[in-house]
Amino acid sequence: MFFQQVKKLGDNFSYVVADEESGEAMVVDPSFNNEEIARVLESRGLQLKFIVNTHSHRDHTAGNRELKERCGGKIVAYHSSPSQKDLGVHDGDTLPLGRTVVKVMHTPGHTPDSICLIVDHKVLTGDTLFVGECGRTDLGGGDSIQMYHSLFDKLLRLEDDTEVYPGHDYGPTPKSTIGKERKTNYTLEKRTVEEFLEFMRTP
Ligand SMILES: [Fe+2]
Repeated sequence: MFFQQVKKLGDNFSYVVADEESGEAMVVDPSFNNEEIARVLESRGLQLKFIVNTHSHRDHTAGNRELKERCGGKIVAYHSSPSQKDLGVHDGDTLPLGRTVVKVMHTPGHTPDSICLIVDHKVLTGDTLFVGECGRTDLGGGDSIQMYHSLFDKLLRLEDDTEVYPGHDYGPTPKSTIGKERKTNYTLEKRTVEEFLEFMRTP
């Protein structure tokens, strides 16, 4: 599998994921990185099949249409997402890239339409989980109770060696693992829902 994290000036991360055998590719959160993404796709002769947004915030969806016009592909987002899409997905859905399968996990909390993508022992966490942080829940549609369940009942159920690839470069390293975050991320310390709500309320 081909996997590349792409960062532009600023802190948004985009991702190019491809099944090398078939050449089918997915771009996650084009953001403001279209030029470099298109170069990666074109230089490797990859065929863009899906442009997937981890959620509907503009800094992640920017570039959707321009990338589609240049490289093709279907714009994919959670079915309830307000952003323009060709395909709406649900929790547990899969997106095939040749023989590589990308699994969709609905992880609301930062926004109602937040999803994480799991592929080949990697999880792309959007703005749900960062290295050393979790996403904020004080923007429109944010919900700390949902964030609690997304973090503790979904993401932390993944195996410790699952690599974590966030939507922003907010941590000391650009990537991590579930095991490392479980041990070192202060937002993932053991808390009850009530304690987590209090924690998220405290600046
Ligand atoms: Fe966001």
